[in-house]
Amino acid sequence: MNPQSFIHAERLIPSTYVQQGLNAKKTRENLIRHFIEHRKWPEEGWDEITIESFLMDLSQMDSNNFPLNCSVGERESRIISNIVARRHFRMGHGIGRSGDLEEVQPKAAGSSLMYRLTNALVVEVIRYMGVKSIAGCFLSPMATGMSLVLCMLTLKQDRPRAKYVLWPRIDQKSCFKSIITAGLEPIVIEMQIIGDELKTDLQKLESQMAALGESIACVLTTTSCFAPRSTDSVDLIAVLCTQYNIPHVVNNAYGLQSTRCMHLIQEASRKGRVDAFVQSTDKNFLVPVGGAIIGSFDKNTLDKISKMYPGRANASTTMDVLITLLSLGMAGYKQLIAQRKEMYAYLKEELGKLATRHGERLLDTKGNPISMGMTLQCLSHQHDHGKITMLGSVLFLRNVRGARVITTTDVKHIVSHKFEGWGAHNSNYPIPYLTAAAALGMKKSDVDTFVQRLDKALVKVRRHSTSVTPTASVAGSSINGDTGNPGGPGESTTASTSRASSKDSLRK
Ligand SMILES: Cc1ncc(COP(=O)(O)O)c(C=O)c1O
Repeated sequence: MNPQSFIHAERLIPSTYVQQGLNAKKTRENLIRHFIEHRKWPEEGWDEITIESFLMDLSQMDSNNFPLNCSVGERESRIISNIVARRHFRMGHGIGRSGDLEEVQPKAAGSSLMYRLTNALVVEVIRYMGVKSIAGCFLSPMATGMSLVLCMLTLKQDRPRAKYVLWPRIDQKSCFKSIITAGLEPIVIEMQIIGDELKTDLQKLESQMAALGESIACVLTTTSCFAPRSTDSVDLIAVLCTQYNIPHVVNNAYGLQSTRCMHLIQEASRKGRVDAFVQSTDKNFLVPVGGAIIGSFDKNTLDKISKMYPGRANASTTMDVLITLLSLGMAGYKQLIAQRKEMYAYLKEELGKLATRHGERLLDTKGNPISMGMTLQCLSHQHDHGKITMLGSVLFLRNVRGARVITTTDVKHIVSHKFEGWGAHNSNYPIPYLTAAAALGMKKSDVDTFVQRLDKALVKVRRHSTSVTPTASVAGSSINGDTGNPGGPGESTTASTSRASSKDSLRK
């Protein structure tokens, strides 16, 4: 309703009531105006009506929603299902213009504005979390692995002789595959075991830099990872990258939620070279999987990466991130970040107590601010890891997700590469263990339930005779399903008869 509509309304109902309604509407409109004018993350989160009316405004700016629209092109945002149309607030043109993500789409002013505003908001979040000198970022419509591909392909363009990526090992399949998908060859740098922790082997890395020079497309480092791997020495590697003139991409998959990971990236760019850093939208903003944020300290590099993306992109993740950041506001996000830190301390304390009760201990992994590990020596007998994999199965059947049991002896082939000790980020990690992560959104009740179920599962597996060891497919090391290990949920749904019976006995 416009101002005239309200004047007319006063002929029908008392004007005080009309004015009250108008004032409420103006309050919301002012929030929206202020946001577009200053592109500032609101301190307090918006309510649903404000967000929905903002999205409806944007939606009305897209040509498919014009009352007099007439379309004769092949791509006119025709959405046949009403459910789909509602799910997207009737915005169907996506992001960008055929050749370019960041170009304004003439048919979709609302969607284009939404993308610009979301990118501006995300820069603020990244600055707030500690990467103060970021030059810019953009929301990539692909998850972390594919967004890393985009970065590597861009960097490779400027280095015609480049064919290698130096990669301090992290046992996460998509990281490794991203290098292969970019048409590059990974050079795996094994991590060094220092105490319980796995740290970047700087000497090995530097000797490869010196030997391979211009044939290296980039060094791909990692901040957030499963314990006992620590964050890479991203700052020291950045110094080496400057020295050897080699690009540096940081995989910060779920590191945006950790001020430690973010400060490390900031330090790295202060001391040396960081070309781009990539973080996933789902893990850091609690939205469905599908996007990543690509950030850089150099606007030119960022533009090149964004321009590398061919065609238009879907707008779902952009809309999800915008809605989430507006509804949380800065205060709501701050609270989530603080809660995660508390949960890290709480999980550490509770898991530590449980470990002691079972004659185990927490791995000393101070270099990892999110994930932690607990030894499983009581379940390992010489080279028999049946009970360790059984623990994974029991936890999985008891609906514990995200914890991983690592035998340290699994072998995995990815493309042409053989990884010994898969899951442990190292071929020779000496102790089997279990990991758990205190990630964004975790609640105290998650920790309590996990510790209770783990306690029971440990008692059960310790008592259990290994004669009912589950079959190979359930006996993999991951109970997460994200790592590409055997034994994840994918395999466990194809239970064989013998497996089903061993599963039944485990469930009891
Ligand atoms: C460290 C790390 N890198 C990369 C990825 C892959 O992310 P995506 O599935 O978003 O491509 C993950 C996923 O868990 C991860 O933990």
